[in-house]
Amino acid sequence: MSGKQTPTVPADAAGIARAVEVLRAGGLVAIPTETVYGLAARADSEAAVARIFEAKGRPGFNPLIVHVTGVEQAAALAEMSPETRHYASQHWPGPVTLVLPRRADAALAPAVTAGLDTVAVRVPRHLVAQAVLAGLGVPLAAPSANRSGFVSPTTAAHVLETLDGRIDLVLDGGPSDAGIESTILKLRADGRWEQLRPGPEDTANWHDSHFVQGAPLPGEAIEAPGQLASHYSPGKPVRLAALVAAEDEFLIGFGVVEGDVTLSAGADLAEAARRLYACLHQAALSRLPRIAIAPVPEQGLGIAINDRLRRAAA
Ligand code: TXA
Ligand code: MG
Repeated sequence: MSGKQTPTVPADAAGIARAVEVLRAGGLVAIPTETVYGLAARADSEAAVARIFEAKGRPGFNPLIVHVTGVEQAAALAEMSPETRHYASQHWPGPVTLVLPRRADAALAPAVTAGLDTVAVRVPRHLVAQAVLAGLGVPLAAPSANRSGFVSPTTAAHVLETLDGRIDLVLDGGPSDAGIESTILKLRADGRWEQLRPGPEDTANWHDSHFVQGAPLPGEAIEAPGQLASHYSPGKPVRLAALVAAEDEFLIGFGVVEGDVTLSAGADLAEAARRLYACLHQAALSRLPRIAIAPVPEQGLGIAINDRLRRAAA
C-alpha cells in the first residue's frame, strides 16, 4: 500500500465548508450518510461525474443515485406527480431511493443516468450530508465510496482502504448508523412501487396495493443495474450459514454463534446491519484466508443483510 494521500477532515463547520468548496470546483469528496459513505460529485458536471466512475473503476452502464435537499430539488430532476410528491415526503429524509422518470430538462450529466430515461433520487437523513447539500445548492451524484465490487464503507477508514489517493477529500462524520445501502423503489407505469433493492426500510410488512416486493429471478434482466450477483466482495471465499469455523476460517458470529467478531451477540438485526460492513472489512484484513458467517434470519432487516451476504459469497 502506498502512503496516505487523501486528507480526512472532521465533519465540523470548517470541514463541511471545505467539502463544499472542493465539490463546487468539481472535486470528489467522500461524505457520511446514514446508510454508507457516499463518493460525491456535483451531478450537473460531466467532468466531475466522469471522475467518480474512474476513481471507483465503475462500469459506465451502472447509473448513480442523485442526492438532493428535498422534494423541490428532486422535482427539478424527475417528473413528480402530486401522488409521487406525497409518497416521497413520507420517506424523505431517509434511506429510501426513488427511481422516477427523468425530466428532459434535468441539469444532470448524462453519465449519471447511464442512458436510462429514469433517475434515482434520495434525500439523506444524515445532518452532515444535508449540510453539504444545502451549502452547495447543487444535487450530488454519490455511489458508495468504495472501489467497484468491494465491500461498502461505513467509516472514513473504510473509504481510505480502497480510495486513498484516488479522491480529493474524506469528510469524517463517524460510523454510519443504518449500515447498509438505501432501499430502492421504482415507480412503475401502473403507478405501483417496485422494490429493486432491499435496504434499511423494512418493507416485508408493506401489504398495501401500491407496493410490489419485486423479487427478480436469477438470470432475469437486472433492473437496478448495480445489483450484479458478485458484489460487496471481501476478496476471500465466503461460506454462509456456518455454525462453527474451520481452522482456516475467520468466523463472523450472530446470536448464539460466537465468532472472531459478531454482527450482534443479542441477535438484534438493526445492530447486525450497522455492523455488517465493519465485520466484513475486519474479515478481509484478517490473516485467515477464508470467511465463515453465521446464519441470519430471513425476516425484517435480515432480508437486506442476507441479500448483501449472498453477494459477498457469490
Ligand atoms: O444508501 C445508498 O443508496 C448509498 C448512499 C451513498 O446514498 N448509495 C449507493 O449507491 O448505494 P450505489 O451506486 O452503490 O448503488 C446504487 C444502485 C445501483 O444498484 C444502481 O444500479 C441503482 O442504484 N440505480 C441508480 N440509478 C438507477 C436507475 N435509474 N434505475 C435503476 N437503478 C438505478
Ligand atoms: Mg455500491
